[in-house]
Amino acid sequence: MHRTGFAAHLREAIIGYTIRYMPAIVVEHLSKTYVTYKRPPGLLGAVKSLFQRERQYIEAVRDISFTIEEGELVGFLGPNGAGKTTTLKMLSGIIFPTSGTARVLGYIPWERRPEMQRQIALVMGQKMQLWWDLPAYESYLLLKSLYEVPDHEFERRVHELAEMLEIRHVLHVQVRRLSLGERMKCELLAALLHRPRVLFLDEPTIGLDVVSQKRIREFLKEYNRREHTTILLTSHYMQDVQELAQRVLIIHHGQLIFDDTLRALVEQYSPSKALRLQFERPVATEQLVRFGRIVRNEGLEAVLEVPREQVSRIAAEILQALPVHDITIEEVDIDEIVRDIFAGKRAAVERRV
Ligand SMILES: Nc1ncnc2c1ncn2[C@@H]1O[C@H](COP(=O)(O)OP(=O)(O)OP(=O)(O)O)[C@@H](O)[C@H]1O
Ligand SMILES: [Mg+2]
Repeated sequence: MHRTGFAAHLREAIIGYTIRYMPAIVVEHLSKTYVTYKRPPGLLGAVKSLFQRERQYIEAVRDISFTIEEGELVGFLGPNGAGKTTTLKMLSGIIFPTSGTARVLGYIPWERRPEMQRQIALVMGQKMQLWWDLPAYESYLLLKSLYEVPDHEFERRVHELAEMLEIRHVLHVQVRRLSLGERMKCELLAALLHRPRVLFLDEPTIGLDVVSQKRIREFLKEYNRREHTTILLTSHYMQDVQELAQRVLIIHHGQLIFDDTLRALVEQYSPSKALRLQFERPVATEQLVRFGRIVRNEGLEAVLEVPREQVSRIAAEILQALPVHDITIEEVDIDEIVRDIFAGKRAAVERRV
C-alpha cells in the first residue's frame, strides 16, 4: 500500500516536472493539404460533378517544425496564402493536420481536450467572436460561465484588462456600434478573460488605424511581460513584429524558411550595409565607385552599399580619401528585406564555414 502510494507520488512528480519544463509549443513535421473539388461550370457541370469530381490538392503547410518556449512572443510572417492561418488553426485545434504532430502545453491540439481549451485562446482579426447585437460585457458573462471563472475573479479581470486597453466606457455598448479598433480590443479582452497560457493572434491589427494599432501593440507587449503568456502572432504589418517579437518564423509556400531573431534575419538576408556620407564639397562619382555600389550621389550627400563585413575598413578608407563631413552606417530596412524575401528576390547569404 505504502509502495503504491510512493510510486504514484513519484509518477505525479515526474509528470508535473515534464509538463512544467516542456516548451509551450512543439511542432514536428506538421503538414496540411486541403482537398477541394473542382466544379465544372454550368448546370451540366453541376450534374456531372455529382458523379465524378475532380480533386484538387492544396499543400497549405508542408512539413514544418519549430519549438516555442513558455513566455515567448514570436512573430509569424509570410505572404498571402503562405500557410499562417492554417498553422494557427491546427495549433488551436480547429482543424486536423494531414500529417505530423504538435503539442501545445503538452496536449495534442486537435484532440480538443477541455483542459487544453481552457488554457489557450485564438484571436482572428478578420473574424469576430463577440455577439454582434450584445454589448461586449454580456458576451463576457457568457464566457465567464463557459470557462467557470469565479465572480470576484471575473470582475477583477474585466476591470484590469479594460483599464489596460482603455475600453471601460464601451463595455456596455452594443458591439455593432463600436469602432473597429474598439471591437478588436473587446475581442482581446474576451480571449484573455480566462487567463490563457498560450495566445494565438492572427492579424490582430488588420485594418486598424495607426493609433489603434499602436495601442494594441503596447497592450500586447505589456501583457506578455506581465503575465508571461506565450504568444504567436501573425501580421502583415512589419512594425507589429519589429516592436513586439524578438524572434520570427517565416513561412513561404507552406514551408518554414526562417526561424531566428530579427537581427539574424538582417544579417542572413542582407549581405550589405548602407554608408551614408555627407561631404564638405561635391565628390565626383568616379571617386566613389571604387568603394562600393553607389545608391545615390547628389549634391553633398551620397549613399553607398558595401559588404557587411568590410564596412569599417571601407568607412576608414573613405574618411582618408574624401572630404567627408559626416558618415553614418545603416542597416537595410527590415521591411524591405522581408518584402524581397517574399517576392523571391532575396535569398539567405551563404554562411562561411
Ligand atoms: N478551407 C480551405 N480549403 C481549401 N484551401 C484552403 C482553405 N483554407 C486555406 N486554403 C488555402 O491554403 C493556403 C494557405 O492559406 P492560409 O489561410 O493558411 O494562408 P495565410 O498565410 O494565412 O494567408 P493570409 O496572409 O492571406 O492570411 C492558401 O493557398 C489558401 O488558399
Ligand atoms: Mg491568414
